[in-house]
Amino acid sequence: MIPTTDFSIRSLCGGYDQNFSYVVTCTRTGAQLIIDAAVGIKQISPFLRDQPGAILITHSHGDHIAHLDQYIEAFPKVIILGHPDSSEFLKIKKFKSLKNNQLFKIGDLPFAAIHTPGHYYDSICYQLDSILFTGDTLFVGRTGRVISIKSDIADLYDSVYNKILTMDGNTRIYPGHDYGEKSTITLKENIKISHLLQARNLKNFQQRMEQYEKNRTPGS
Ligand SMILES: [Fe+2]
Repeated sequence: MIPTTDFSIRSLCGGYDQNFSYVVTCTRTGAQLIIDAAVGIKQISPFLRDQPGAILITHSHGDHIAHLDQYIEAFPKVIILGHPDSSEFLKIKKFKSLKNNQLFKIGDLPFAAIHTPGHYYDSICYQLDSILFTGDTLFVGRTGRVISIKSDIADLYDSVYNKILTMDGNTRIYPGHDYGEKSTITLKENIKISHLLQARNLKNFQQRMEQYEKNRTPGS
């Protein structure tokens, strides 16, 4: 019998600041992977059948890799996947870097790694069919911010507007934090509700971001 769905996604919210880690399970092979090491092992373990095949890192900000050492110790077989320029990971023996647009499989699940610098230099989004794990590049209701040393607003504009918003509008995002009115959203819905996703060009996006930062209240 052919299963009606090929994978399941378990969202785990917690960590430093309403972070999300995700457990993705290939329902045909049973293979599992984790997106970001943001929540503790106790929180994630009940949803793992065995050792996960891989941990996919969206970027190397501390809150997204907070529990990575713990995961590596608990799962000796796991490999870590992320951005080639990510100096944080180069010291990890089991790290494998992913080129822009690189395709790879976990179980039967076909992933694509899409480099999306801007919020941070080593940001990657992971595409799985009509799902996009966006890390801190794109949230429900807004883009990521560009307040880190290695942030770049022109890069963020390019990543969001030329790489993500050009995808099918029914693509559903799973972001790195639970900052929106709901935990996940399609791109077309997100554009409708997000002032920061309606910019006419880079300059207009910069103005909108400036405005957003001015009006921002902590936690928004
Ligand atoms: Fe971040």
